[in-house]
Amino acid sequence: MTDSLHLKYKHEAVRLPENFTEGMIRWTSPSNIALVKYWGKKEGQIPANPSLSMTLKHAVSDFTVRYRHKNSKDRKGLDYYFHNQAKPEFTVRIERFLRSLHPYFPFLEKLHLIIHSDNTFPHSSGIASSAASMSSLALCSCSIEEQIRKESAKKKDFLRKASYMSRLGSGSACRSVYPGYTVWGKHDRVPGSADEYAIPVNTGIHEEMLEMRDAILIISSGKKAVSSSAGHELMKRHPMATTRFNVARNHIPPLLESLRSGDFERYSRIVETEALMLHGLMMSSSPWFILMKPNTLKAIEKIRQFRQHSKLPLCFTLDAGPNIHLLYPQHNAEEVEHFIEDELQYLCENRQWIADEMGRGPVKLS
Ligand code: PMV
Repeated sequence: MTDSLHLKYKHEAVRLPENFTEGMIRWTSPSNIALVKYWGKKEGQIPANPSLSMTLKHAVSDFTVRYRHKNSKDRKGLDYYFHNQAKPEFTVRIERFLRSLHPYFPFLEKLHLIIHSDNTFPHSSGIASSAASMSSLALCSCSIEEQIRKESAKKKDFLRKASYMSRLGSGSACRSVYPGYTVWGKHDRVPGSADEYAIPVNTGIHEEMLEMRDAILIISSGKKAVSSSAGHELMKRHPMATTRFNVARNHIPPLLESLRSGDFERYSRIVETEALMLHGLMMSSSPWFILMKPNTLKAIEKIRQFRQHSKLPLCFTLDAGPNIHLLYPQHNAEEVEHFIEDELQYLCENRQWIADEMGRGPVKLS
């Protein structure tokens, strides 16, 4: 990686002073749902196309990192607990992420870390847990750096660095450090956008679009048939890859316009096309994957019928799994939530759905 921030962050890296003893930091960071999907990447977690997401409010990871100078008795540098339990499969991923931060945060190699993390949402619920957890840990790492440096960066620079570092853990995580709507990936029509970090795009957004609800319908909570890393990999030899990357790029300006004008119909058309295209790409990969379940399709059909009859603004999106994110403005919450209870809830596993909404981004806790 030779982007200018890589050089800057490496150049300004701080070393751990000999007299440094210990500290603690805690951040909660939310998940996000992509409206224009990131699916396909290049070397160094660089997205093949720009994406646009909405940060969630209630689906958050909470990370507490206790750190102290390593001593000769420390055989390893990390003790990791998820909901107070050791989780070897998550530990491996956390270790890999922390290693990728070493060029920028060399002090991490000298520290023993005890990390406790919790999620407010169930695992495999169609909520991107890696976005919430990797952004939380990136924020903690950036804050540890500030504690060592004894100096705070400007908020904008701090968040940009946190977004850059989050990306190294999970691409979509770089969008979680900002409230509301976020674009990640360089786009000529989005000033300031970049492949290495996300930027917030909340200026001029229509009031109704700033109060968006997201009802997450848990159609199935089973393990995904394909990991997102394997899915990104499949795009390298997908016959429609070039067209897909152009379509996604072309979806960004009209989606932003619909967010600014409050044109829900235009918004729905793009958001639903994006969701179904993501699944279409998986179905037409080699090997192929069908990640929707029969109840996903039944629910989509119900949503379409309800929208036609009620004329209410609501639409759906999907992540790389069978669960549905039903999006609607807050002022229609009552009618839509009745519809969920009457016509969609029975299609959900254990009648489970999660009421979320647009969120205000990560929070540092003391
Ligand atoms: O961040 P990753 O590598 O888990 O990829 C996320 C991919 C999607 O969730 C399907 C789309 C997106 O843009 O979040």
